[in-house]
Amino acid sequence: MISTDDLARLYPDVDPVESGDFERVVRIKEEAFGRRVHERMLPSSEVLAQRLFAQGQELADLRRHLKHYHDLVINLQNHLHDLSASDQTQALLLKQLDQFLEDGLAEVLGRSDANDNLAILDDVLKIMSAHVIVRPSGHEFFVEGHDSLLKAGVRAGLMLNYGCGNGNCGLCKARVVSGEVRQVQPCDYVLSESEKQQGYTLLCSHTAVSDVVLETLEASGPADIPEQRIVAQVKSIAPVSGQASDTLLLHLQTPRSNRLRFLAGQSLTLGLAGSQGDFSATYPVASCPCDDRNLLFHIHRDAGDSFAQRLFSGAVRSGEAISLWGPWGDFVLRQTASHAASQPLLFLACDDGFAPVKSLIEHATAIEATDSITLYWMATRPDGHYLANQCRAWAEALDEFRYVPLFADDIASCGRQMVQAVCTDHSTAGSGGDLAACDVYLAGPGDFVDAVKREFSVLGVPLSRLCAMVV
Ligand code: FES
Repeated sequence: MISTDDLARLYPDVDPVESGDFERVVRIKEEAFGRRVHERMLPSSEVLAQRLFAQGQELADLRRHLKHYHDLVINLQNHLHDLSASDQTQALLLKQLDQFLEDGLAEVLGRSDANDNLAILDDVLKIMSAHVIVRPSGHEFFVEGHDSLLKAGVRAGLMLNYGCGNGNCGLCKARVVSGEVRQVQPCDYVLSESEKQQGYTLLCSHTAVSDVVLETLEASGPADIPEQRIVAQVKSIAPVSGQASDTLLLHLQTPRSNRLRFLAGQSLTLGLAGSQGDFSATYPVASCPCDDRNLLFHIHRDAGDSFAQRLFSGAVRSGEAISLWGPWGDFVLRQTASHAASQPLLFLACDDGFAPVKSLIEHATAIEATDSITLYWMATRPDGHYLANQCRAWAEALDEFRYVPLFADDIASCGRQMVQAVCTDHSTAGSGGDLAACDVYLAGPGDFVDAVKREFSVLGVPLSRLCAMVV
C-alpha cells in the first residue's frame, strides 16, 4: 500500500537497486500470504469441496467415537452407584473411583487446550494443500492451489519424469499407492485398463485431493534427461545492469505445452535462423529447473561469439523465435540417497561462471539441500559482478547463504586469489581439512578453472568432491 516514490522520499539514502532491497521487496510481495491465498494456494472449488467432505467425514467419525466413550463412562458411573459395598473400606474405594471419574469427565469437558490452535491451523492447511510422498525416494512436497502433481513436484525441485507436460506423451505416468487424485486438465494419452486397475495416473493432468503416496522413478543424473528440441519465444532481452553493461539478460519462454526438462547447472544450444544466416551458441541456463517454462541466460559481449553479437546488435526482439537443443553437461548438484548432498556447498564463480552457479544455488535452496552455502564470486572486468544485488538479496533473505565478492586484475591471478580467499575461511590441514567435507562447484573461464584445481592439488585438497565447468 506504500508507493516506491514515498519510500524514496522518506529514505533518500537507500539505493534499492544496489543494496539488493528491491529483490527482497519483490520476494516479500511474492510470498505475501494474502496474495498466495488468492492466486496460488486456493484449490478449485471441486477439490475444495472434496477435501471439506473428507474432513467432515473424519469429524463425524470422531464425534461418534467420542459419544461412545462418553456413554461408556456414564454407564460405568451408574454401575458404580448401583454396587453395594459390604464393608466400609470397599464403600470408600467405590466412592473414590466414582469421584475420580466425575473429576476426570469435568476436566476433559471443561479444558481448552493451548494446542487446539495448532490443530485448527493444521486442519486449515490440510484443506488448502495436500502432502505428497514419492516412493521409493522418500521425497516430499505439497500441492497448492490449482497445481497439478507434476507442477508442484517440479516446483519443489524434484526430478520427476515427464515430457509434454500436457497430457499427450504418458511419460509422467506414476502409480498412486494411497490417497485420492483428481483430473484438472484434459489429456489425450490413454492409460490401459491394467494400468488404471493398478492405480496409475498422469501427474501432469491430475492434482491431489487428499494426502497422497506416489510410486515413480525420478531422474538421478544427466543421463536420465533426454535430449529435447523446442522452439521458444524471446520474452525479454536487456542489459543486466544499466545500458552500458556488457552482459545481456535473455529471457526465453517455452510453449505451455512443451516445457524444457533440465537439471540445474546444465546448458542449452540456442539457434537463430534468418535472412542474415544461421547463428547458434551454447550457454548455461541461469535459472532454476523448478520453472521449466521461463529460461534465463546471461550473454556476455564476446567478439568471437556471433550469436552474442547478433543479440547485442539489437537485431533480436521480444516475440522472436529461438530454437533450443539440449540439455547438455554434468555440472549438476551431487545426489545422495536423501534429496541431495547435505554437505556445505561452496560455489566458486568467475565472471560469467555465475550463470550456471545461479541455477545451482536456486535449485539447492528450493530443495533445502544444505544449511550452508557460500558463494565466492570473482570479477576480472568492471561489470564482472553483474548481478551483485541478487547475491546481496540472497544473503539478506537466506540464513544459510553467505556471499563473498572478490576482484582480480587479470585472469592469470584470479585462480590463485580465489583459493587464497577460500583458504582464509577453511582449513586445509590434513587431507584437505574442513574443505574436504564441502562439495565444491567451480565455474568460469578455462584458465581460472585450471588454476583453482592446480592450487587445490598443491594444498592436498582432494578433487573428488569438486565439480567444474568452463564457461
Ligand atoms: S508429461 Fe506428457 S502426459 Fe504428462
